[in-house]
Amino acid sequence: MNRSNSNTNVGTSTAGPELLLELDRGDGPLAARLQGALREAVRAGRLAPAERLPSTRTLARDLGLSRRLVVEAYGQLVAEGWLAARQGAGTSVAGPPREGSLLPAPEPGPALVGRLPYDFFPGSPDLASFPRALWLRTLREVLRSAPDEALHYPDVAGTPELRGALTAHLGRVRGVVTTPERVVVTSGARQGLTLLGRMLARRGVARIAIEWPTLPLHAEILEAAGHEVARVPVDGDGVLVERLEATGADAVLVTPAHQAPRGVALTPARRAALVAWAQAGERLIVEDDYDAEFRYDRRPLGAVQALAPEHVAYLGSASKTLAPGLRLGWLALPAALVAPLAREKGLDDGGCQTLDQLTLARLLDTAAYDRVLRAARRRNRARRDALVSALAAELPGTRLEGLAAGLHALARLPAPVDAARLVAGGRAAGVGVYPIPDRRGQSDQLVLGYACLSEPAIAEGVRRLAEVIAALR
Ligand SMILES: Cc1ncc(COP(=O)(O)O)c(C=O)c1O
Repeated sequence: MNRSNSNTNVGTSTAGPELLLELDRGDGPLAARLQGALREAVRAGRLAPAERLPSTRTLARDLGLSRRLVVEAYGQLVAEGWLAARQGAGTSVAGPPREGSLLPAPEPGPALVGRLPYDFFPGSPDLASFPRALWLRTLREVLRSAPDEALHYPDVAGTPELRGALTAHLGRVRGVVTTPERVVVTSGARQGLTLLGRMLARRGVARIAIEWPTLPLHAEILEAAGHEVARVPVDGDGVLVERLEATGADAVLVTPAHQAPRGVALTPARRAALVAWAQAGERLIVEDDYDAEFRYDRRPLGAVQALAPEHVAYLGSASKTLAPGLRLGWLALPAALVAPLAREKGLDDGGCQTLDQLTLARLLDTAAYDRVLRAARRRNRARRDALVSALAAELPGTRLEGLAAGLHALARLPAPVDAARLVAGGRAAGVGVYPIPDRRGQSDQLVLGYACLSEPAIAEGVRRLAEVIAALR
């Protein structure tokens, strides 16, 4: 082992395969630096796909680290998909995780949505149920009553009307603890995350942890803002909070109400541990509460934000409750982050469109929004039940996860199929299907959005899907 200085460990393995690793000079935890060095070696091609790694004992000795650190690092990178571990064959390189491979088609776009008659696109509400008449009536009222001044350049953080209405609504429905001054209106949750990413980068945050799997677009947004993204696995209780410390991240992006895409809720014990992690290191939790309004047969779970308002940036959106095309979202922020975030928003687009903000504010204030939500909840529950029945009838042996809430469920097929052929076969049959492929392109996990299809369409779509799957086997 060579040790060139006290901050840098350079090791060349002396037994088994050769591996030159340089732990960066940052002063983050050793575990994070080791994991970063391994990722970098794979990314840079110094470790080629299928190449075998030194044993944990050898690498630990060569780097002068404890074996536990190396075991943990290998385990983390296996979970992230960089490495593969096979019983008796040691650990080898799987290659950089293919971006976007876990949830396909993060960008629905007009080319996809609505084109196929049986499109199980995850996360779209029923666009045909958008309350057009209500929106139009309310917009008319807004136009009639708003002073000319309302058409000036807007407050970049949002109109006072909408920030006030959101404060009351989020407090009542999600238990969010905030004030109008801490709310910033954004162009969807996506812009909220983009602005947070930029703001955190300016403040010196370099590494952000995310759940894995998650919406690949969110990893992309954070990487585009200059962050290194550390992937933390998810199990049936939500994200593995105990793995956060070792990532060395200063912030984490989570979906506690309905994990995207697995659909599980973060348990109360993990919520407490998450908050403790944030408080211990002055870190930030970014809580994406994207479809939390839809809960069917589970006890209400409030937002994590309520447990530590000064450590959580809460992200919400009208995309699932009204329509993604509105591009309306919001942030509830710790006091210290409001001004820097509003600055990013001002630099980006100078604020959201005023008339839509005023319209949404009025719907919230008059409880019309609550009525829209209640109707959507009833409709979605019936559609979810239709999906459960159709799968039981057409694809017996399929297990469903994440049914208690949200707009999509995760179907686990009894046996894997080729993901690309499934998507192609589905398209030919008029079915939009979104498998989560493994490294070999096989998939036994389908993310099925059910909110945007009628009950008969769900039954027919699943029947066709079963035919496509049968033909592939
Ligand atoms: C995990 C997740 N968060 C948030 C959103 C909402 O994003 P936006 O408000 O930008 O439409 C989505 C939309 O698909 C999503 O899948």
